[in-house]
Amino acid sequence: MTETDSPDGRIASLIEKLTLQEKIDLVHGDRDPAELATGYLPANDRVGIPSLSLVDGPMGVRAVTATAFPASIALAAAWDTDLAREQGEALGTEVRGADQDVLLAPGCNIIRVPECGRAFEYYSEDPHLSSRLAVATIESVQSAGAMATAKHYVANNQERQRHAVSAEIDERTLREIYLPAFEAAVKEADVASVMASYNRINGTYATEHERLLTDILKDEWGFDGFVVSDWWATTDAVAAAHGGLDLDMPGVPVHEWQESESRIHEAIGALPDAAPKGTLAELAAKPWLPDGANPNLFEGSVFEDPLREAIEGGKVPETAIDEKIARTLSQMDRFGMFDDEQPAGSVNDPAHETIARRVAQRGTVLLQNDGVLPLDEDLDSIAVLGPNAETAKIGGGGSSEVDPTAAISPLDGIRERTDSGTTVTFERGVERIEEPHDEDDGALGFSVPDAIDDALSGDDEEPSIDAAARAAGSADVAVVVVQDNASESEDRSLWLPNEQDRLVAAVADVAEKTVVVCNTAGPVRMPWAGAVDAIVETWYPGQEDGHVTASVLFGDVDPSGRLPVTFARRTDHYPASTEAQYPGIDFEAEYSEGVFVGYRHFDNADIEPLFPFGHGLSYTDFEYTDVSVESGDGPEASVQVTVENVGDRDGYEVVQAYLGQDDPSVERPPKELAAFESVELAAGEETTVTLDIDQRDVAYYDEDGAAWTVDDGEYTVSIGRSSRNIVATETITVADSTIVE
Ligand code: GLC
Repeated sequence: MTETDSPDGRIASLIEKLTLQEKIDLVHGDRDPAELATGYLPANDRVGIPSLSLVDGPMGVRAVTATAFPASIALAAAWDTDLAREQGEALGTEVRGADQDVLLAPGCNIIRVPECGRAFEYYSEDPHLSSRLAVATIESVQSAGAMATAKHYVANNQERQRHAVSAEIDERTLREIYLPAFEAAVKEADVASVMASYNRINGTYATEHERLLTDILKDEWGFDGFVVSDWWATTDAVAAAHGGLDLDMPGVPVHEWQESESRIHEAIGALPDAAPKGTLAELAAKPWLPDGANPNLFEGSVFEDPLREAIEGGKVPETAIDEKIARTLSQMDRFGMFDDEQPAGSVNDPAHETIARRVAQRGTVLLQNDGVLPLDEDLDSIAVLGPNAETAKIGGGGSSEVDPTAAISPLDGIRERTDSGTTVTFERGVERIEEPHDEDDGALGFSVPDAIDDALSGDDEEPSIDAAARAAGSADVAVVVVQDNASESEDRSLWLPNEQDRLVAAVADVAEKTVVVCNTAGPVRMPWAGAVDAIVETWYPGQEDGHVTASVLFGDVDPSGRLPVTFARRTDHYPASTEAQYPGIDFEAEYSEGVFVGYRHFDNADIEPLFPFGHGLSYTDFEYTDVSVESGDGPEASVQVTVENVGDRDGYEVVQAYLGQDDPSVERPPKELAAFESVELAAGEETTVTLDIDQRDVAYYDEDGAAWTVDDGEYTVSIGRSSRNIVATETITVADSTIVE
């Protein structure tokens, strides 16, 4: 094999041929002539480098009509890495089917605050669950021939002022809570790219953060892929070049980007180059920009002229650019792009719709049920109520939006599922909630309103709670479908919008039986929880919404989801409940809760949640027997649990193992998720589940020693159906303190 035959040699020889301008053109994006890719790196035909197309997003391929998979939080609620692999492979196949090379997903950020506007795009409040799902998704997306992107690195945990806020985090909290999913993405899943986030971490922008991008990501973890910026996130060419950013996207100002935010931007983009387009576009957008809008939305890439000037001025060595390009080209080579060996993929495979439905069904969480569910087949009448019950909840607003190949609403799903003997009525009850698809808001969550033709959409007749209550009062069961309207670039309220709480209360007052179906991005307040007979959380189910909702309500499938986030009784019960913590003061958010995020806080502060992390009911019942733990001298341990389905229906159970140090040398959460396994059991069937706890899940990060450390001593292993429904506990003893490599 000659020098140029080896991948590195081949890449090096390509780079040697490049002029400085050609190198500059390989470290920032440009407009995709096909107007499909979210980000695009043009080909260099002279030396033989193909173009690179990057596309959103975690819930489906943004560029084309594609399968709208369920929200990432719904996938997380299934607690099933095998299922995550099925969905990831389908998603990667659709990326290739759309002739794209890189999927800008998964979102690996921890759901630190329930108000996070992108909670639906993330997995969990727990780093172990997030890490397992990130690895499964990345490996499977990449197995289908698409590069995956672990985003948004790191601590992009709120949308409020996302382009300016600094996450003020201590090292131990960073290591134990916010980095693990990204570390696993790199060290276990060999992710092709990592996206640097908009926010600052301890005062430094992620795109310029040398410690995070170079010292930890590239040097300590051995990441050999490329770091891509979030869109318009890079503001300083020299700092980003030295910090470790490899590719600045999208590389063109918003009014020249292929997905212009509005017709006004398109018009500005079409003006002669001499026109002050950036200024005009900024003036046009200014009144509607969110409070933390992208810093250089209206300028070209800092990795174009400013970087070339920095190189020519000796501030950035040209070799630094060569290393950046080598990272991107080596991933292109790894995925067969130089040898035209990429899989063709497909976008419209009906099997993907089945996977989308199964994931959403498995992620559906039965929060409360007094026995009204599953619904009887021979109901005479069902009243379906809710502002958007006749619209499928495809997803949230922003870059994750997908134009679905099909869609079925909860109302149509219930109508389709019932026979002619059942009357299904529908009343909105309250004003319809605007859906992301209703407006052409574009990826950044804002649109410059087009002139006069914004005629108010809406119903001929005013919806009324009274009409909904009347419908509910005359039906055998009332199904109220409520939803929030989360979107990127803004955070969400925990209160349901448009007076839906009043609607649910009015229905519950008169209905014989009331079932509430929640299409929400994460936790919401439920002041009516005690007044209704059942609550089902379906998150954003994607295009199969109606089939998912009906199949769960009628018991065709067992609702097997378990909460990946805590639902609190009160807003101030959540860990980051002061303004200094969230959204922060003077653009600084103090992560002073430290490692006590989510259930870690509720346990440590002994606060009873409304619905705890890991909670979820089933239509059948399970019994745990024969719990045993083998650990030798520790810290690894193997837990064996025999689970029996003692009910009369098939169902899924998620066995959870938590670990807590009995007498820690540092303040540690009472228990932390260390392993889990979901199993499907037929009625009467039993199986023995093995949960392996590895030493990293026993360790804490010792900031002084800068090392993962396991103290000697005793640890309690808690086996449960949720973080608050512990069925058995066992003790393991670690004989010797250990530093975990
Ligand atoms: C957006 C998002 C990111 C997305 C990118 C491209 O602002 O933060 O998740 O992949 O820009 O749309």
